[in-house]
Formats: sequence, structure tokens, C-alpha cells
Amino acid sequence: MKVTVIGGGSWGSALARILGDNGNDVIIYEQSLEIVNEINLYHTNKSKLPVGTLPLNVSATTCLSEALIESNVIVIAVPTKVIRGVLNDMNNVLTHKSLFVNASKGLEPDTFLRVSEIVYQEINNEFIDDFVALTGPSHAEEVINQLLTTICAVSTNKKAAKLVQSLFNNSKYFRVYTSYDLVGAELCGALKNIYAIASGMLSGIGLGDNAKAGLISRALVEMRRFIISFGANEETIYGLTGLGDLVVTTTSLHSRNFQAGYRLATGKNLEETISSMTMVVEGARTVVAAYQYARVNNLETPIIDAVYDVLYNKKPVKTAINQLMKRSLKDE
Ligand SMILES: NC(=O)c1ccc[n+]([C@@H]2O[C@H](COP(=O)([O-])OP(=O)(O)OC[C@H]3O[C@@H](n4cnc5c(N)ncnc54)[C@H](O)[C@@H]3O)[C@@H](O)[C@H]2O)c1
Repeated sequence: MKVTVIGGGSWGSALARILGDNGNDVIIYEQSLEIVNEINLYHTNKSKLPVGTLPLNVSATTCLSEALIESNVIVIAVPTKVIRGVLNDMNNVLTHKSLFVNASKGLEPDTFLRVSEIVYQEINNEFIDDFVALTGPSHAEEVINQLLTTICAVSTNKKAAKLVQSLFNNSKYFRVYTSYDLVGAELCGALKNIYAIASGMLSGIGLGDNAKAGLISRALVEMRRFIISFGANEETIYGLTGLGDLVVTTTSLHSRNFQAGYRLATGKNLEETISSMTMVVEGARTVVAAYQYARVNNLETPIIDAVYDVLYNKKPVKTAINQLMKRSLKDE
């Protein structure tokens, strides 16, 4: 099968690796000519993934129509802030129906739209076969090296979820489950990046495992409130797309959201932090959407509020943590 991957960053490259290992003909659409040339000439993408190689059946292009021609599956792996623009460009060159698989994680500020909703807004619906989110605890740096990973193909359409499950599943290192709560899975995938920033902040000011375990547990409480408010299934919190992804991203140095939080806690401001990262920090954008949504819908989200204040109101990390500790006492 020909599969198009939109975005040749770390996650797009790692997903291309799996698809290539599974025998598909994979083409990556990427805006950086340097990355495209490196993939085509050397089968590596060192600026995004210093380790690992891509199989020979993976190629790359800067030409969107070349990437999309004769492809029936489109995998989205670009930062969420550019998704609308890229989808709009795709809509102008698409000629046939494709299955959309989204691997990007974020929530849009102001509209509170999830990526699936943005896809259905930007792409002429006659070109959308169905939509599946591929999400769960998965760092590109491990996947590219074929280290054991579990993930979920999530769709409201069981057949589409199963198709994506069999497309990506690799019995050697990549085990794909299916689930059907798309709203819950998309929200959990977006929110966990905020808590990864918070976790990096805790490490940055020298706090330990106790603080981190507390953060993870209380983050689950906020995520639960959040997804219930969107009408999603509470149980999603406890699966791969919820707890699984939350744990991997709050405890791993691979997480650039964690790294961003660490830098913020050690004296860098937001602009310095973002510009010093070579990869996208989705949590910095999602926290704006989550903070706005919580205000509008009267949700209690103290951790989201604290991260927002540090990022956008220049509140020192230590002050934010002291204030969290001094909140009124309550039942768990
Ligand atoms: N890296 C991971 O381990 C991982 C895992 C799961 C999900 N994700 C999600 O995947 C998404 C992408 O993350 P990433 O880590 O690959 O980011 P990245 O910064 O490594 O790569 C993003 C790539 O998109 C390209 N790009 C940006 N704008 C573009 C455009 N208009 N047209 C074409 N290409 C464009 C960039 O040049 C870059 O190569 C994010 O939403 C992230 O949360 C990442």
C-alpha cells in the first residue's frame, strides 16, 4: 500500500519507519529540503532523530501533490499550529478519498477544536474515507530503534480503527490496540503535554519522585474533569491513550515538553526556551486552549492554571508551586 506521511520530523520519521518495516511504499511530505535530501540520500534524519535509520521503501518530497498521488492513507504528523494551513493546501491538490490517520497532539486555542474536527472542517468531506487517531505512550527516539511500544488506533468507526491497527502493528516492536472513544483519546493526548511541562518544572527546581507521582495522580483528576465535560468516556483516562501517555511523557527525558518545563524552571523565559528547542513543544499551545476552556466551562484545573501562569504571566515556578501547596485542604 502507498502511505503518505505529512511531516518529516521525529514522529513522522518514526512512523514512516514502522510503515516501511511493514512493507508499505511510504512517502513523506516535508517542507525542509535539507531533511528531504537527507532522507532520500542517506536514509537518516539526524537533525530530528540523531539515532536510527529509515528503510529503503521510505522516500521524501517537498511536493505535496507528488506525496498524495495514488495514496489511500494519509498520516498527519506536523505541529498542530500548522495543521489548518497544511490541510488547506492538501485540499487543493487531493483528487480522491483517503483514510486520515492523525498522530499530532494538541487542542486549538479559541475554538477548542480537536484535530479530527479540524480535518473535517478543512478537507472537502468527499475526500475523507474516515478518521483514526494513532495515540499512546510512544517516543519517536525509541520507535525508530525498534524498541517495544504499545499504542492505540482510535476511531468512532470500528472498521477504520482495525485497518489502521493492522497497517501499523509490527509483532517485533509495535503493538497496536483499538479503541473507540475518539474525543477522550484526542483530549488526553493533547492535555498530557501540559503535565509534561509541569513535570519538567518539578525536576528543574530539584523536586523528586514523590512530587512527580503526586503530579501524575492529580493530573488524572483534572483530565477526568476535562474529558467528562466534553462528553467523553471516563475510562479512557486509565488506558494507553490516557495514563499510558501521561506516564511516558511526564517521566521521560525524551519529552520535549518535559525539557521545556525544566528549562523554564532553571531561569529561561518562554521565548528562549521555545527557540532553543529543535522540536515542537505542543503543551505550550495546548495550555492556552485548556486554560481558556476551563474558564469558560468553570472547571477546576489548578495544575493547568499554574503552568499557564508560569508560561504567560511570568510567574516564577517556585511561587506557582507554593500557591498550589497552600490551596484549601480537600478530600482526594
Ligand atoms: N516526537 C514524538 O515522539 C511524538 C510522539 C507522538 C506524537 N507526537 C506529535 O507529533 C506531532 C509532530 O511532532 P514531532 O515530534 O514530529 O515534531 P518535529 O518538530 O520533530 O517535526 C515537525 C516537522 O513538521 C515539519 N513541518 C512544519 N510545518 C510544516 C508544513 N507547513 N508543511 C510540511 N512540513 C511541516 C517541520 O519541518 C518538521 O520537520 C506533534 O503534534 C507531537 O505532539 C510526537
